[in-house]
Amino acid sequence: MPESKPSAEAWGSRIGLILAMAGNAVGLGNFLRFPGQAAANGGGSFMIAYFISFLLLGLPLMWIEWGIGRRGGRFRKGHIPGMFAALWKHPAAKYLGVIGLVIPFVVLCYYTVLMSWTLAYTWFSLAGNYWGLTTQAEMAGFLTSYQNISDASAHEFWVPFLFFFLSIGPTIYVLSRGISSGIEKLAKIGMPILFVFAIILMVRVLTLGPGENGVSPLQGLEFIYKPDLSGLGSAKVWLAAAGQIFFTLSVGMGTLQTYASYLSTKDDIALSGVATAITNETAEVVLGGSIAIPAAVAFFGVSGAMAVAQSGSFNLGFVAMPIVFQEMPFGGRIFGAMWFGLLYFAGITSSVAMATPIVAFFEEEFGIDRRKTSWTIGGIAVVFGVLTMLLFESGFLWEWDYWAGTFGLAVMAVIEVILYMWVFKPENAWRSMHLGADIRLPSLYKFIMTYVTPVFLLIILGWWAVTQAWPTLTLTDCPEGVVAGALCSQGSVIPEGMAVYVHLSRLLLVAFIAFFLVMIRIAWKKNGYDDYADFIEVGPDGPFRAGSVTRPNPNAPHVVHAHDYVSPLLPEHGDDLPERP
Ligand code: PHE
Repeated sequence: MPESKPSAEAWGSRIGLILAMAGNAVGLGNFLRFPGQAAANGGGSFMIAYFISFLLLGLPLMWIEWGIGRRGGRFRKGHIPGMFAALWKHPAAKYLGVIGLVIPFVVLCYYTVLMSWTLAYTWFSLAGNYWGLTTQAEMAGFLTSYQNISDASAHEFWVPFLFFFLSIGPTIYVLSRGISSGIEKLAKIGMPILFVFAIILMVRVLTLGPGENGVSPLQGLEFIYKPDLSGLGSAKVWLAAAGQIFFTLSVGMGTLQTYASYLSTKDDIALSGVATAITNETAEVVLGGSIAIPAAVAFFGVSGAMAVAQSGSFNLGFVAMPIVFQEMPFGGRIFGAMWFGLLYFAGITSSVAMATPIVAFFEEEFGIDRRKTSWTIGGIAVVFGVLTMLLFESGFLWEWDYWAGTFGLAVMAVIEVILYMWVFKPENAWRSMHLGADIRLPSLYKFIMTYVTPVFLLIILGWWAVTQAWPTLTLTDCPEGVVAGALCSQGSVIPEGMAVYVHLSRLLLVAFIAFFLVMIRIAWKKNGYDDYADFIEVGPDGPFRAGSVTRPNPNAPHVVHAHDYVSPLLPEHGDDLPERP
């Protein structure tokens, strides 16, 4: 690891880096979204599509994003517009990168709201607030009352806001502390707690006796792990599986790239990338798959559990699990608090990641310090977070989740694969991924990254656009008289008067895109970047501030240009590149 200078950001240790990257990836997606998606899409069939998507999309994109990110860092570009501009010498490159600012910002706004539910339920479990609500209908009612601010039957109206502030506050605080003393430290504490809680819960769930209908939790495992080819002809299953791979690994977001930008070319990214992916998949498939689904299957049977999952994205976690805790002979409240506490820790190590690309953008391009940027972004996220809470009933939050948190990821992935593997060229990409590498990537992956991943992505995206996105966008997939946008594809019915909020949510997305496009333009103008020239490489003797036009270190060997560092005349060139300060 490079020695960090006071003004520069860097990871403190390898283990800290891996934990932070894993903390970024392991989130609510692993323990809530995954079981929900697997159960709602036919278990065994979903898992086959899921593993294929992991090998052909997730893993290659993981390496690609680390590569793009670290390369951006060499020019002190921790944000996607800068990274894209460093790959493609064209004025459009930076604007394409807008997606890498909008997605993480939008996801931050609603993800912290979801996190606040987990924090609230941690408290409700300890305090026993939902004790006595032992049927699905009752627990679902409790959840709906919590989610719909206007329905205060189960809580005072200010309670959800309190938990929201308690969730986003620590996120912003950690962010403001910076990379090694904020994010890395949080990961070193949060990740071990998360794994310990998850293992305890897994053991507890798998040793539950058969439920009322005589089904053992192990049948839940069989439901996911028994290969089943019957659903593989369905577009829905493939789209759900690919979407889950994106979301859970945090690929297509812009956050892995920012984390990787704090690495030097002497650091390994090949092994670290696969280590992160494997940690996430262990947390997802082994732990995430062995808690909510087996527990729900034991209590409600396989078809009952599928029905719970289909009735709402998070219902396995927030409706089925609380019923299971109440049925436990002892320690139900503690196990309940552990489950929701685990979700909170999983969430916070991800939420801090979401804001990092935006912080990097304002810090590097406008010279605004991290603390100020963090609290400002936090403040803005609070405003939009509260808005998603107030408008929850209209499907506002799910609309953002659909466009930014699902569809947007695939769009971003297509752009970055094309830029890195095609515009920057496969040989250069392959070489740049191997600088400082502790392992050689299987060469089959060069082929996969160049051809298979982009083609697979385009097929998925096209399929998605035709079968889902278009009908969702035009609201034509909804039952008569009901207008519900993204919620419609989940079969939910929204009162007609609410449709206006679905449009409002989309309008805001467009407004965010416009805002960040303008900011990118201002940044490039202000810093005098030439779209057709390379950025200045960050020298060993910083401090190099974005926008300075002088070379950071006049004694540095030479300014290395994107195109000549991979020149065949300089085969080992990467090894003696100046490190990032
Ligand atoms: N991968 C995270 C999860 O599984 C979600 C996430 C989204 C993380 C965006 C970082 C950025 O919950």
